[in-house]
Amino acid sequence: MRALVISDLHSNAEALRSVLAHVRRKKFDHVVCLGDFVGYGAQPNQVLDTMRMFKGAKKVYIRGNHDRVAAGLDDAEGFNTAAKAAALWTREHLSPANRRFLRDLPLGPLVKESVQFCHGSPHDEDEYVFNGHHAAAVFSGSDEKFILYGHTHMPVIFALDEHGYVEGAAIRGDATLRLSRSHRYLINPGSVGQPRDRNPEASFIIFDTKALTVQFFRVPYDVKKTQASIRGAGLPRILADRLALGT
Ligand SMILES: [Fe+2]
Repeated sequence: MRALVISDLHSNAEALRSVLAHVRRKKFDHVVCLGDFVGYGAQPNQVLDTMRMFKGAKKVYIRGNHDRVAAGLDDAEGFNTAAKAAALWTREHLSPANRRFLRDLPLGPLVKESVQFCHGSPHDEDEYVFNGHHAAAVFSGSDEKFILYGHTHMPVIFALDEHGYVEGAAIRGDATLRLSRSHRYLINPGSVGQPRDRNPEASFIIFDTKALTVQFFRVPYDVKKTQASIRGAGLPRILADRLALGT
């Protein structure tokens, strides 16, 4: 499998457009989205139309916690005020086709070709995996060589070696990593639509199980345009402000 893996798009059509333009000439046979297509931003239909109609690669899509709430499958309890406002706004503004698409997204984990895909962690779509201790627990609860997850909006890789030792690295900027045949990996591509590692550029990976490589990318996009759409929709201003800071 050679996959374009994106996550946490959060209704940011400008960021998604920039990512897809960047990979236009790159080869991949799967396109994976690890959830949170919507929420926070004001362009849910543009993002969902693009992802629904994506052609040229097999789609592996799972839902995230914001998708669950925006689809009306859950209330927004546990969300902060701004996230709740955006989720409820999204619910009101989805086209019928996109509402159906969101509602029918599978809950992770999904497994394809020794790769497990999930939003938060394999057994909890709301769980945040930030550190090595937590990563070790996730490895012990799964049998797959590769686990790809999102939700934290932080590009990171954890490796488990043959002695049970876990090492983690936050990825800054573009990087190509070679993976070991004898290790297992937990990889987060970061967020397309709302990065939180103080770098506002959209984050994603191309992941190759045959060549054993993972390439991390950051691409700039028109942040001001996305901010204007959020303010224009009357969503809380903090959602726009955070985009320029990458927080
Ligand atoms: Fe998210």
